[in-house]
Amino acid sequence: MKIKHCEDLNTLVSLSKRRGFVFQSSEIYGGLGSCWDYGPLGSLMKLNVKRAWWNAMTRRPDIVGLDAAILMHPTVWKASGHVDGFSDPLVDCKACKTRFRADNTESYLLRKECPQCGSQNLSEERNFNLMFKTHMGPLEDSASVVYLRPETAQGHFVNFMNCQQSSRYKIPFGIAAIGKSFRNEITPGNFIFRTREFEQMEMQYFVKPGTDEKFFNEWKETRHNFYMKYGIKAENLRFHDHEKLAHYARAATDFEYKFPMGFSELEGIHNRADFDLTQHSSFSGKSLEYFDEANKEKYIPYVIETAVGCDRLFLAFMCDAYREEISTDEAGKEDTRIVLGLHPELAPYKVAVLPLSKKEELSSIAGKLRNQLAEDFDVTYDEAASIGKRYRRQDEIGTPFCVTVDFDTINDQAVTVRHRDTMVQERIAMSQLNTYITTKLKSF
Ligand code: GAP
Repeated sequence: MKIKHCEDLNTLVSLSKRRGFVFQSSEIYGGLGSCWDYGPLGSLMKLNVKRAWWNAMTRRPDIVGLDAAILMHPTVWKASGHVDGFSDPLVDCKACKTRFRADNTESYLLRKECPQCGSQNLSEERNFNLMFKTHMGPLEDSASVVYLRPETAQGHFVNFMNCQQSSRYKIPFGIAAIGKSFRNEITPGNFIFRTREFEQMEMQYFVKPGTDEKFFNEWKETRHNFYMKYGIKAENLRFHDHEKLAHYARAATDFEYKFPMGFSELEGIHNRADFDLTQHSSFSGKSLEYFDEANKEKYIPYVIETAVGCDRLFLAFMCDAYREEISTDEAGKEDTRIVLGLHPELAPYKVAVLPLSKKEELSSIAGKLRNQLAEDFDVTYDEAASIGKRYRRQDEIGTPFCVTVDFDTINDQAVTVRHRDTMVQERIAMSQLNTYITTKLKSF
């Protein structure tokens, strides 16, 4: 058997649309650039991705959760450096009005072409701030300007004292959050890889200065283990240490995933030192010093940040899980089984209930079994087409278990459980099915 992995993002774009993972936003109006909607399967899977990350973070004894507002006091973005520094240099082509990133100008000029029209009549370089601006309240004046947050992290920093004091956690401790962020990206693209509205899963770990390097390395390892646990192939993941650092960082590493378009950033791990808390302290006039009871000392904690995009991670899981199993029979006829080999925790459905026939005597049992399973798992039900076709439909969306109700079920109260990856089948009593699947899911 030959195995083909995902080599082209379009394979996933079309699977996503066909099976209900991801749709173009506002599609019936021609779509809105770089915005995507998660469909029936995608919304389930995205929740699973978030749950996996959230549990990995907040079930530790040293991390609390936070759900901060998207709109924040505008001074937050002054203090964070985003108002002055969160921009890309742009130039306009005066002939065709195309706007593009100035860091590409040289290569365009060398090739004697502008992206659209070939003119070299370009404007001066200008900085274009990537934050989306809006107005709070009825007046649209400069006093009412607020921003859609470009990262969730600032919510962690401005709530550092609230979280620490209410939880009474001692340093080192962390704050984890999942939420929407917005960036007016100049070059969005590659499906859900780079979009203007996306979700981030960020964790800020507050540590004593001097211990930051140790925790930075620990977090690199912890996050690597997360990816291994959820089945990302080791050869598709690599570290990239930054030489050129962002204004807030002392050290930074990216986890890069081998997407079909090449290795690209998936998650950033940053040592932000005391930059953020010091800035917010000075802009707000509130002390953000931590008092270490045991040693009777005060300090501004250093921060180790882990920051990953939920949508980008969703895409990485899809890419990694997708495979085509191509077999050839004795007559030389090829057959392709498409499998989304997702970790069962991430799969939209854990179980599919498939009655062998639509006859009432089977569908009544299958309907009850569906409800029994739905008490513990996300379940789907399918009674259309041949059983072989129905298995294939489930393989393509990553369902780890298919349960077939057949005519023997009426007498033996048992069903056939078919495993996605091995295609092995087992006969299991219906009364034991929830426990059986729970055990299998845990041991995956
Ligand atoms: N608080 C630090 C921070 O936001 P970042 O490297 O700009 O750091 C972190 O973003 C992660 O958020 C990225 O590694 C990526 O996974 C995701 N991300 C950033 N911009 C994105 C975009 N336009 N679309 C989708 N995901 C994005």
